[in-house]
Formats: sequence, C-alpha cells, structure tokens
Amino acid sequence: MSMNKLVVANWKMNGSRELLSALPRFAAAAGPGVQVAVCPPFPLIALAVDRGVAGIVVGAQDCHAAPCGAHTGAVSAALIAEAGARLVIVGHSERRRQCNESDALVARKAAAAVAAGLGPLICVGEEDEGEDPGTVAAQLRASLPGGAPAGIVVAYEPVWAIGSGRTPAPSRVASVHAALRAALIAALGDVAGRAVPILYGGSVDAANAAAFTREQDVDGVLVGGASLDREAFQAIIAAV
Ligand code: G3P
Repeated sequence: MSMNKLVVANWKMNGSRELLSALPRFAAAAGPGVQVAVCPPFPLIALAVDRGVAGIVVGAQDCHAAPCGAHTGAVSAALIAEAGARLVIVGHSERRRQCNESDALVARKAAAAVAAGLGPLICVGEEDEGEDPGTVAAQLRASLPGGAPAGIVVAYEPVWAIGSGRTPAPSRVASVHAALRAALIAALGDVAGRAVPILYGGSVDAANAAAFTREQDVDGVLVGGASLDREAFQAIIAAV
C-alpha cells in the first residue's frame, strides 16, 4: 500500500464561486501524506487558483487534444495550465459516452496535457458489473500517451457505480487495480509504472472511502457527488 493518498473532487457541471470558500476546510481535513485536488468547471479554475489555498491542487475536467486552433468552445491544455491548474481529467466515462470519445482520442488528450505540463488523470472502467479486469487494463493501455509521460494519474471508475450508490467490493477494486498496475509497468517500465497513483471512483462516500484506500494499489479516490457537499467531502478526506 502506498504511503501517500490522493483525494480528487470532480465537480462535473456543478459547483459555484461560493463553493470555493470550502477549499480551506478541505485542506485542513487532510492528514499527513494526503493530497487534495479539486476539479471545478472551467470558469472557476482561475478563481480557485487565485484563492491560493496551500495544500489544494486545482485541476480541470477535460482538455482538447490540439494545442490551439479553430475549435469553438474547446479549451487547450496550455490555457488550463496558464490558469494555474496542475492536472486535467481525461477520458471520464461521461465524455466517452456523451461525446463519443475513443481510447485513441483520450490518449491524444493525455499527450496534450503532458506537453502542457499538466498531469493527465486518465479514467477507465467497465460498463457492466463483473467484466474481466483485463478489459479495463486493455482500455488503459489504449488510453495512455506514448513516450515516457510524466505526472500520470489513473482512475478506475466502473461506469455502473458512478452516481448509482452501488460500489464494487474493495477486493474487486484491488484486483482491477492490480491489472492496471501490471499494464502500467508493462507500458512505462518498473519504476515509472509503480509510481503512477491509481484512484478508485464511483459512489465514494465517507463511510466507504477508507475500505477502498486500505487495499493494495488503491492510492486514493475520485469523488463526484459527495465532493459537492462540504461536510461529506471533508469527511472523505479525513477518512482516507
Ligand atoms: O469522477 C467521479 C465520478 O464519476 C464518480 O461520481 O457521483 O459516483 O462519486 P460519483
């Protein structure tokens, strides 16, 4: 089990300027070795960074694969970095489903993030309960950027567990994470592959968070709905 844990809030298309006032509480809830990151919608990123809360990393929820150009409504990794964010979620299942994003596009977005100096938080996960962990590992292999990318984080988010109140058993999460770790080592080499944090996401709450992060190769959690509730997210951070 890793000594350091990462707790990431994905606000999705929620949150507000007012909710940013909770950032100091989130930072204060983190024990030694726990890093907190918050990924608000694009318009709140610079505002979150400008709060200057020590101990909070700010991230984005998506980026375009191209460095710049005629892509109305899209946001480049470079502009996200310029706003002061340090990581960006790519390949979330909601974008894979709602925007038809393929593994290949996710890999290009991850590469764009790395080129801009951001850590890509690459999401993978099976659609249906009980699928072979090898399926998720194959999705990860196809979603990784080439070369020797720095700063990668991976999140295992079973699609059926997102927002459903249903979660896999911690032992199931551990076996998928083991398959993901093996895929990372095969792709990046032993040292780099072992250094990549692998998070679990999907209906995480204060009552179940620690059961996941106690497992081997579960290096933290990616939290959706519960990250919008100040008390709930604070309790998750404290529990990890
Ligand atoms: O990215 C986090 C997410 O998809 C999980 O959402 O609401 O089940 O915690 P939720």
